[in-house]
Amino acid sequence: MAFELLFAARFRVRKVESARFPMKGKLVLNVQARVSRQGVIRRYRRWLPEIPDDAIATIGEGETPLIEATGISARVGASLFLKFEGMNPTASFKDRGMTVAMSRAAATGSRACVCASTGNTAASAAAYAARAGMECFVVVPAGKIALGKAVQVLAHGARIVQIEGNFDAALKLSKRIGEELGDVTLVNSVNPDRIEGQKTAAFEVAEALRDPPDAVALPVGNAGNITSYWKGFCEWRGAGHAGSAPRMLGFQAEGASPLVAGHDFESPETVASAIRIGSPASKEGALSAARESGGLIESVTDEEMLAAQEMLAREEGVFCEPASAAGIAGLLKLASEGRGPGGTVVSVLTGHGLKDPDVILGRVQLPDPVPATFEAVAGRMER
Ligand code: F0G
Repeated sequence: MAFELLFAARFRVRKVESARFPMKGKLVLNVQARVSRQGVIRRYRRWLPEIPDDAIATIGEGETPLIEATGISARVGASLFLKFEGMNPTASFKDRGMTVAMSRAAATGSRACVCASTGNTAASAAAYAARAGMECFVVVPAGKIALGKAVQVLAHGARIVQIEGNFDAALKLSKRIGEELGDVTLVNSVNPDRIEGQKTAAFEVAEALRDPPDAVALPVGNAGNITSYWKGFCEWRGAGHAGSAPRMLGFQAEGASPLVAGHDFESPETVASAIRIGSPASKEGALSAARESGGLIESVTDEEMLAAQEMLAREEGVFCEPASAAGIAGLLKLASEGRGPGGTVVSVLTGHGLKDPDVILGRVQLPDPVPATFEAVAGRMER
């Protein structure tokens, strides 16, 4: 009996009940294919709000690579690692919080969700809503979200509402829809379940390095991500897994830097459309993360972000979207001013570069074709 139980726990064993089946009553070994990525809810369940098994909507998010950036390390004067969140199922960091928010919404019987977005939240909500069997509405600034993200929303069958207004207006409207229309769950990061899921990235970083790094550099838009990382590192330390927590270094785009200026931006502008936000919802979370960790929130220019994006792609082989390069742009800037953090530093690359093809095509074009001859191809290579 003990052996049977042990066996049943290791493999899935079921009793065949069918009367037509000759092996009736016998135990049949049913070794199921192992799910390669179990998702952040199953992996970090005891750190998260309660979610019943049958409500879990996962696409195998999390367990993203932590890549050593040997080339850029020397430039920033630190041992630099890249947490490549573009390797999540919808190619951005949003999936960690979305699995928790969507699963909890499903568990409470919600049939629809809504979010405002600069693109990535929308793509993630669309995918996880599809997974959870829920309707999804996304409210976005018209013509201002990157092509790849819009395509994802359409592919997953979510409904896009484009507004003649910016992200901040879209968020206000989405909040009101969540409050006034019953049965529609708001899945922006003002929903605390998003922050809970997102904090698992901090656990992964601490586990991979065995200790938390000295500093974490990341882009700041609506400020949910920096709030989540800080919460995660504090909980990790609080549970006795580490004696310290990293300095949080947040970077906004100069044209959309309300946390640096100390006031909201009416018309935020930056090439990094993901963080074109003038009034971050998690302002307080971001400011306390910087203050309590001895970190900072500063800004970088569009040129600095694009240069960092190119450096990551061409020197490290890692392709992220422009906003995601804000952390590296910030670290390069601090190093050039003799203020680099030093030690072990993790920069979070929040989204994949394929999300925003137009930014690259604006800089480099495909060359004209040549005839399919050896001479023509060799000639082009010599040039
Ligand atoms: N990087 C990327 C690629 C993003 O999409 C975002 C936010 C951020 C950084 C900033 O993170 O808002 O938590 O401070 N994108 C949101 C969206 C606003 O709608 O997709 P944050």
